Amino acid sequence: MKFELKSFFQTSAAMACLAASSLAFSQDVFPNKTISLVVPFAAGGPTDVVARMIAIPMGKALGQTVLVENAVGAGGTIAAAKVARAAPTGYTLFLHHMGMSTAPALYKKLSFDPLKDFEYIGQVVDVPMTLLARKDFPPTTFTELQAYLKANGNKVSLANAGLGAVSHLCGLLFMSQMGVELNTIPYSGTGPAMNALLGGQVDLLCDQTTQTVPLIKDGRVKIYGVTTLNRLSALPNVPTLSEQGLKGFEVKVWHGMYAPKGTPAPVLDKLTAALRVAMQDPMVKQRLADLSSDIPPLDKISATGLKTHLEAEIIKWSPVIKKAGIYAD
Ligand code: MLT
Repeated sequence: MKFELKSFFQTSAAMACLAASSLAFSQDVFPNKTISLVVPFAAGGPTDVVARMIAIPMGKALGQTVLVENAVGAGGTIAAAKVARAAPTGYTLFLHHMGMSTAPALYKKLSFDPLKDFEYIGQVVDVPMTLLARKDFPPTTFTELQAYLKANGNKVSLANAGLGAVSHLCGLLFMSQMGVELNTIPYSGTGPAMNALLGGQVDLLCDQTTQTVPLIKDGRVKIYGVTTLNRLSALPNVPTLSEQGLKGFEVKVWHGMYAPKGTPAPVLDKLTAALRVAMQDPMVKQRLADLSSDIPPLDKISATGLKTHLEAEIIKWSPVIKKAGIYAD
């Protein structure tokens, strides 16, 4: 019996060594297969545009393909829950915007915790928004729009990408500062919401420059203003909403990249390094500059940079949302 126990322990110890060395090996060779980058909104929309823009240079830096996967619904919370439950191997990553910081206050039942269920890779990009209408919407200026909305109220439709989407938050802020209640219509992303605007099925949409700049320049949508305090270099002739009377109106959309909790530190370090390389890629830099979107400084493209920012944003948004009384059951 003694002998059997000894050999049992010897075998177990050998197996533990093998497991540890194969884990170390798999980390050493990470990545050795395709990485999935989950995006919580529909293909073709602004988050998808950012993900696809950085997936290629990030994949090049890692020596593997980074494949974008759209998992839509419930303002991004379905995708977040999916990633939180994924194997912590570095092969499932998540790109989300500031919805990660508003979800805890907006959703009464949330099946993930942004501060407990993830590892942090780094901040990605800061994107301004634009207030748009379908091309043939009657008001031609912001002053005319104000009068039109006061007269027509909820006969006017305002598209968004669901509760917790930035198009939703921007719309809420707009309605509250204007003192109007519009008929809000949710889509699975502002990709499909934009198609509805282009097709004339909805009247208004607040959306990010990563999707809207080319459409504005081509005259395919009508623009009333940008959501930053200063005008954008990509749209120098478009006034800010703030300068047109909505004093201090400001929405800029930050983004972050995450991995499931428990992803090994050496793997996370490789991912952060690859994200930094991607954000310095000349094509990415040029494309983002053309869309007036800002690349964060290097110290923010880090685990600490993202986590610190997320914590601060949760603290900032939670009381605002609670006060506004907006919830999803
Ligand atoms: C999207 O990618 O569809 C948007 O980021 C949705 C939104 O938050 O408005």
